Amino acid sequence: MNVAMRSACPAAPARCGRRSVVVKAVAAPERAGTVNVSRNENFGKLRAGYLFPEIARRRKAHQEKNPDAKIISLGIGDTTEPLPAYIADAMAKAAAGLASREGYSGYGAEQGQGALREAVAKTFYGHAGRSADEIFISDGSKCDIARIQLMFGSKPTVAVQDPSYPVYVDTSVMMGMTGDHNGTGFDGIEYMVCNPENNFFPDLSKAKRTDVIFFCSPNNPTGAAATRAQLTELVNFARRNGSILVYDAAYALYISNPDCPKTIYEIPGADEVAIETCSFSKYAGFTGVRLGWTVVPKALKYADGSPVHADWNRVMTTCFNGASNIVQAGGLACLQPQGLKDMYDMIAFYKENASILKATFTEMGFKVYGGDDAPYIWVGFPGKPSWDVFAEILERCNIVTTPGSGFGPAGEGFVRASAFGSRENILEAVRRFKEAYGKGAAN
Ligand SMILES: Cc1ncc(COP(=O)(O)O)c(C=O)c1O
Repeated sequence: MNVAMRSACPAAPARCGRRSVVVKAVAAPERAGTVNVSRNENFGKLRAGYLFPEIARRRKAHQEKNPDAKIISLGIGDTTEPLPAYIADAMAKAAAGLASREGYSGYGAEQGQGALREAVAKTFYGHAGRSADEIFISDGSKCDIARIQLMFGSKPTVAVQDPSYPVYVDTSVMMGMTGDHNGTGFDGIEYMVCNPENNFFPDLSKAKRTDVIFFCSPNNPTGAAATRAQLTELVNFARRNGSILVYDAAYALYISNPDCPKTIYEIPGADEVAIETCSFSKYAGFTGVRLGWTVVPKALKYADGSPVHADWNRVMTTCFNGASNIVQAGGLACLQPQGLKDMYDMIAFYKENASILKATFTEMGFKVYGGDDAPYIWVGFPGKPSWDVFAEILERCNIVTTPGSGFGPAGEGFVRASAFGSRENILEAVRRFKEAYGKGAAN
């Protein structure tokens, strides 16, 4: 719309001689709901959608088509069991306290409450040399992984286990560390294949040097936990190459095998190369509560000698404002004797689900991996596209799984079954699997 208005022409008095002139102010042309800002081109590189929203979309479509179907989800790795009362009570008390002058608190330290940092350091890293000031409390590991990328910027090269938790790749794409998707994976990412042939540990003699290596143990989705010898090899590989290892230990407490470390800092020299991230999500059912932590050792230094710890502190104080004080009270309760017992009981419950599922798939004749040191079962369907297997299981059993290809090219031919579920649902899922596929279905 053009707007005409009268003006005394203050900008050009000499030319217009202070006469009153007509100036045409032209409003921006109307566009069909767009702004004059171009899209961050990196977002255009991302694949159709983040894996789990796509699964949710397909689940919804199936439910609409079959309104009476009682769908069971073994898909997204979300916890299902109620919080232990001791832990929930601690949060309720903290919340109620906010209504009193003595119990009220506002902004806290962005790095987390001192008592919680101390408790995390003592509980999980006492034997591995990490101190409270190297622990940063956060609203969860996923958020920390994205914030860690802020420190790296767009230039570094990246390696991931293939398959792996999609957030490592997708945040690398968002940051501009990669090229385009080439139909199999993203150009510029080093996909380190982990499959039954290499016991789900990458062949590092063939892996290219990268600046950053994301590594998750126990791995989501394969359920494989790396042994001490394998992690020693990994740390030595990172040290030789001068790479930073971002070690995701979100499922560490699910490890039963005494030969598999629960933190990367059990490996000598890891403090000079590794950042570790971890979470209360799968330990205490905090997926919706939101609480995690990241460890940045003071010994970890960039090429110019500056400490990564200082930059992480800068990220957390600038881009984060501290985890909720109510939730931190819950985290502190988790690390008291009663809370620890409750957490271990919860983990044992999900691990029993995992062994029920694993036994079922094994009995049916499938090749089954994981499930012993992790809440995930990795089931092989050689030669079949994993989205087809996903669709078939949804159609025949009304069960949601996760297609392996969503975790990387080497996930093709597998689906992941999550052990997070009520016992009733897990047993019902087992019944439906057996009914649909029967014994020896895989042969
Ligand atoms: C390997 C891995 N890391 C991190 C996360 C995210 O944890 P949080 O809930 O703390 O954000 C998940 C969640 O499923 C995960 O599987």
